[in-house]
Amino acid sequence: MSKVPTGKIHRNAIVAGTAVKLGANVMKRRTQALLKQQDGDASARENEADEQAKIIFSALGRLKGTALKAAQMLALENTLLPEAYREQLNQACYRAPGLNRAVVRKVLMSQFGRAPEQLFSAFDYTPFAAASLGQVHRAVDKEGNTLAVKVQYPGIAESIRSDIATLSMVLKTVPTRFNFDNTLPEIELRLIEETDYELEFRRQEDFYASCDIENLRVLQPNSAYSSKRVISSPYVAGLHIDEWLDTDPPAAARNRVCQALCDLFFASVSRYGMLHADPNIGNFLVDQANQLVVLDFGCTVPVDPKTAAAFVALLQAYKAQDLAQVIHYFNLLYMNNQGDPDKMKANSLFLQYLAWQHKLLAATQFDFSAHPDYMAEGVTLAVDAHKYSDFPVCPSKEVLFLERVYYGYLQLFQRAGASVRFEIDTLFEAHANV
Ligand SMILES: Nc1ncnc2c1ncn2[C@@H]1O[C@H](COP(=O)(O)OP(=O)(O)O)[C@@H](O)[C@H]1O
Ligand SMILES: [Mg+2]
Repeated sequence: MSKVPTGKIHRNAIVAGTAVKLGANVMKRRTQALLKQQDGDASARENEADEQAKIIFSALGRLKGTALKAAQMLALENTLLPEAYREQLNQACYRAPGLNRAVVRKVLMSQFGRAPEQLFSAFDYTPFAAASLGQVHRAVDKEGNTLAVKVQYPGIAESIRSDIATLSMVLKTVPTRFNFDNTLPEIELRLIEETDYELEFRRQEDFYASCDIENLRVLQPNSAYSSKRVISSPYVAGLHIDEWLDTDPPAAARNRVCQALCDLFFASVSRYGMLHADPNIGNFLVDQANQLVVLDFGCTVPVDPKTAAAFVALLQAYKAQDLAQVIHYFNLLYMNNQGDPDKMKANSLFLQYLAWQHKLLAATQFDFSAHPDYMAEGVTLAVDAHKYSDFPVCPSKEVLFLERVYYGYLQLFQRAGASVRFEIDTLFEAHANV
């Protein structure tokens, strides 16, 4: 079992090593490219990106914990990253570091004043799942209930600031047009929040109390076995949504699960006022009754009511093909109201994007299996817009979370080949003053 490196000197040595390797790698590539006179050759650049991605993520893998979580969040926010980076980021989500028995015991002692053997009638020291900032153990309480006990890595909370500084240094050495300067401070804040399992406990309780979606379950967290660094919930025998899809479930079950997720999104923005903002596949289980279980309330954000109403109004405008309204709300949410409506109207990429949105929302029931390339088309449009658009898009921070969840869910629906209803007409009836 490997240890999470927490010492600053140790960590800085890892960073320095990585930066040197990266520098050497870039130099080598440049020289080769010059020699072969193929500086502009796309496949050479792709190779370079590939090798750099590997070096970066081997460093992240050695830092573990926070770096992995940050990598995970970057993956969600950057559909524009080169393929090589995305692959490595996805792999990072599933890597399990593993704490030894003595450390697990020590954490539980420090949190509850008793060893696992006294706390529970059974406790499995071997974790059954990796968490991004910890690991999850199965236990049986004195009443005979099976629990999932998430135990945080000791020292992880203290190391976030230096991890993010490290990550920022590593990312600066990557020759890319993607700028992470604005994303990293936000990620740092979220991570610090995520180490507070008491906060996660309260959010999970709030969600448990509010959630009224058909075929969707939120677990009531267990207060007797939860603390600042440990959080426990009833154990669910289920499959991660991707593993479940691999079992080839019938269309009706896939539709039900995806509909539940879609309803959760719109209920969150219009009624709950809070959003489960981490649409990572690991956060959704499908239980034996084919119900969707939403896990992990570590990244739950309050929904800004004005942003949410404007976001829904924009979807309604796409649906109605109301160009003036689309421009109004798009400008508000994505262009800080600096956009020129005439330029937007004349931009063919923008018009194609509207048509893409309309296709989904205008259908009473959109069948992703009948449109296997729907999401890929959207990504291509977004990439092209990023490259060629003559107007700058700068989404507000509030809308970024809505985006991440909404498009994250759409990606899942596409993967599931589900048929989903987007019931947006009656949301925010009174949004006239947005
Ligand atoms: N109540 C539960 N029942 C079954 N498995 C669970 C439960 N809670 C967590 N897990 C497993 O542990 C993994 C990590 O838990 P999660 O809360 O998502 O941690 P993190 O906050 O670090 O992402 C999940 O992907 C899932 O496999
Ligand atoms: Mg999770």
